[in-house]
Amino acid sequence: MGYFKALIIAAISLVAVTASAQNSGGNAAARTLKNPVPSTEASVTAGAAAYKKYCAFCHGADAKGNGPLAPKDSNPPSLTDATWTNGSTDGEIFTAIVNGTAPKSVMVGFKGKMPDQDIWHIVNFLRSLGPKTAGR
Ligand code: HEC
Repeated sequence: MGYFKALIIAAISLVAVTASAQNSGGNAAARTLKNPVPSTEASVTAGAAAYKKYCAFCHGADAKGNGPLAPKDSNPPSLTDATWTNGSTDGEIFTAIVNGTAPKSVMVGFKGKMPDQDIWHIVNFLRSLGPKTAGR
């Protein structure tokens, strides 16, 4: 019984450690992911359209955060600054969009909701707005 209890506690703390590792600045596997879509004008334009449809109501039309229909107190961050709490490379931004940042936040992933290519277009669009950061 005591052994079983210790096992459960060990399992729970492992989950906690894993979660906090992800919280502190990015995702090692995602960092190695290369953006397969060149950042052309056409890609940025396609990304802007997809952003407007799927993201603007939470992140704002100008991507500066706190869009008009964001759930109360969810505070979607600006996607135009150099702060990327989930990692700043194209691969990490892509992964945050695909997998979402739940349960930490209200943002659910967009996996299966649009083609990967469209998500890369969004990454290129967001990159076109903000300052250059690591990994680009
Ligand atoms: C329901 C509201 C909502 C929608 C819709 C939404 N987001 Fe988010 N998003 C959030 C919140 C809240 C966070 C903050 C969570 C965090 O920083 O971990 C977030 C975080 C992010 C991050 C991580 C930012 C960072 O600093 O690491 C990215 C990138 C992102 N969103 C992009 C998008 C894109 C692109 C779309 C559309 C395809 C989208 N989001 C749709 C609410 C939303």
